Amino acid sequence: EIDIDILAIETSCDETAAAVVRNGRTVLSNVIYSQIDIHALYGGVVPEIASRKHMEKINQIIRKALSDAGTSLEDIDAIAVTYGPGLVGALLVGVAEAKAIAFATGKPLVGVHHIEGHIAANYIENPELEPPFICLVVSGGHTHLVVVRDYDRFEVIGRTRDDAAGEAFDKVARTIGLGYPGGPKIEKLAREGNGSAIPFPRASIDGAPYDFSFSGLKSSVLNYVNSCNMKGIEFNRADVAASFQNAVIEPLLSRAISAAKEYGMDSLALAGGVSANNAIREAFAKECEENGIRFYAPSLIMSTDNAAMIGTAAYYEYIKGRRDGNDLNAVPGLKL
Ligand code: KG4
Ligand code: ZN
Repeated sequence: EIDIDILAIETSCDETAAAVVRNGRTVLSNVIYSQIDIHALYGGVVPEIASRKHMEKINQIIRKALSDAGTSLEDIDAIAVTYGPGLVGALLVGVAEAKAIAFATGKPLVGVHHIEGHIAANYIENPELEPPFICLVVSGGHTHLVVVRDYDRFEVIGRTRDDAAGEAFDKVARTIGLGYPGGPKIEKLAREGNGSAIPFPRASIDGAPYDFSFSGLKSSVLNYVNSCNMKGIEFNRADVAASFQNAVIEPLLSRAISAAKEYGMDSLALAGGVSANNAIREAFAKECEENGIRFYAPSLIMSTDNAAMIGTAAYYEYIKGRRDGNDLNAVPGLKL
């Protein structure tokens, strides 16, 4: 049996990442340059700066991924790259780089959907996990409830109507003065707070039982903070963080569990940056156990943006014969 080694590149947002993945599930190297400190100065990702940083870093990150894996371009079987969704200028850096390498070496090119990558992150550390299963993708840009029918077949049964879950974390963090990125900061502060102190709303959408909405929650937190400030009342930031966090977790959890039951799935996975949140993981683990559902979540490093997950997703596309040409383009609004 011969091994298939894929060099994967990810530049869709603010991480410049490259990895080498063998046969889909063995990570030989996983290099991530996070630009987060730079963007934190501006309170969020600045697209123009992200593209420029990707350009500066991409070559050295790829060289390191190859050398950490103890391999070289000659021994790589295919080049994979995230081509969407994401920031167009950021995506273009990775896509141009991957196309250049594929063209120069004559190796096949495989474009990968970023969300498909997040879902595939679950395969890396869970050798027994195989489709079908339910996956809740919760990141800075996306909140999707997905029936993963096969490695390359997805049915999106629910999505956010407005803000993504991670976006809500980031915006609420700003409202209570925590800075960017908000997710980890809210999580930390929430540990000291009372999650039922403030009754923030849990939105549901008529006729769309699996859809989400977080913008009302975000406004409600803002109104709460503003009205406390106006009345000169000092509010408890930890209680706000904990109550907000619960108001995000509850709808995510209840919809994911109902979906697993309705679709007859015995496995449920989390994916995306927000799945790094321990309160979310614990709530899911507990509820899954009570319902006889196997629960999966990627390790922290595999939850947030990385290229190993792109290499894993690419492998399953590659073995089904999927190839892209030199006309592969970045698609910022790519749908699953
Ligand atoms: O998947 P990701 O790295 O990038 C996107 O594809 O969007 O997700 C980043 C998002 C950010 O909104 C960040 O605040 C959130 O994931 N996040 C968290 C935590 N760690 C990262 N949200 C809640 N709790 C965390 N511990
Ligand atoms: Zn992501």
